[in-house]
Amino acid sequence: MMDQEINDRVEELERKYATMGQDLKSYLDGLLISNYLTYWDYINLDTLLSLQKPRTDFPDEMIFVVYHQITELYFKLALHEFHQLGHNGRNILPNGEDLGWKKELSKDLLVERVQRINQYFSALTKSFDIMIQGMDKEQFLRFRMALLPASGFQSAQYRKIEVCSTDFRNLVSRNARHLYPENTTAPIAEMFEHIYWKQGATELSTGKKTLTLKQFEKKYSEEIIDLGESFRERNIWAKYKGLSTEDQQDPKVRQALRQLDINVNVNWPLVHYKSAVRYLQQDTNNVPATGGTNWQKYLPPRFQKRIFYPELWSEQEMETWGKAWVEEVLANELRS
Ligand code: HEM
Repeated sequence: MMDQEINDRVEELERKYATMGQDLKSYLDGLLISNYLTYWDYINLDTLLSLQKPRTDFPDEMIFVVYHQITELYFKLALHEFHQLGHNGRNILPNGEDLGWKKELSKDLLVERVQRINQYFSALTKSFDIMIQGMDKEQFLRFRMALLPASGFQSAQYRKIEVCSTDFRNLVSRNARHLYPENTTAPIAEMFEHIYWKQGATELSTGKKTLTLKQFEKKYSEEIIDLGESFRERNIWAKYKGLSTEDQQDPKVRQALRQLDINVNVNWPLVHYKSAVRYLQQDTNNVPATGGTNWQKYLPPRFQKRIFYPELWSEQEMETWGKAWVEEVLANELRS
């Protein structure tokens, strides 16, 4: 006598497979010979642990490689959320049936998922000491020479996070922004030429691009422009603007977006900048960056003033963007 609960499940399975014109018996045969799933297969552990390949014999290079990979995985989680938010969230039934994207984005989903992204960035910001304190400076200064001209500047996921967060116009460097009024319909490909990070890696007097930038453009320009076009109406700011006026005023919504702005444009850039100060700042002459930027001018948020959501900040807050923090970082460095 078959247990009633098992019987119910078998009937359910029969219905499920019949809908797709499949024979349940064959699938049950497959189940009979299947192996049990293991942890190591599920997360592809052997493959994952085979991907750390330092280019030199300096032991601390392993820390550098692994920490970059950890960061890229967090970036991947962030992009996973941006993608779902951009499409209003997945409509998925408890039985696993996928009904596609929802028609509209709810305020609650926006808050919940932006908070997730904030948690990822907060974890990255808190753990950045692994870079700042966790490597021997002498080893770092040696092994980095074997990595030229590669730089974290070439992190495409970081650039994609920016594109998914805001109106593309806000990524255009400040001196070209006047070319693009709010709600501009200019092609992304055109604004992309003025994106702030290209200027950071271009010698202004000669217009010569660093090799780091040239290689990045060759591999990723098309992908980033396509993402910009498809996220014109799907980026977080566009999604926020799509909420009702009342929902836009909800302090929880505004707070989640403001925190995202601070996390991506101040907190993470500042701990990252702190690592550049620790390793590249010397008493007399500074060590050049592997990507060739003038990093002292390029990296500090108070110079860049990258802001995703200008409407959510006061003039005063934007004026002092990232300033207090940078002063603190530099003062601590000079004391130590
Ligand atoms: C010792 C640790 C690090 C140092 C000294 C450092 C240094 C630098 C410097 C000097 C730049 C400017 C571009 C250049 O000319 O190379 C840069 C950019 C960048 N780095 Fe790092 N970096 C470190 C760790 C990391 C880590 C762990 C990540 C994680 C992915 C990362 C991601 C980035 C990104 C995304 C940029 C572009 C930032 C922007 O455009 O504002 N860096 N880094």
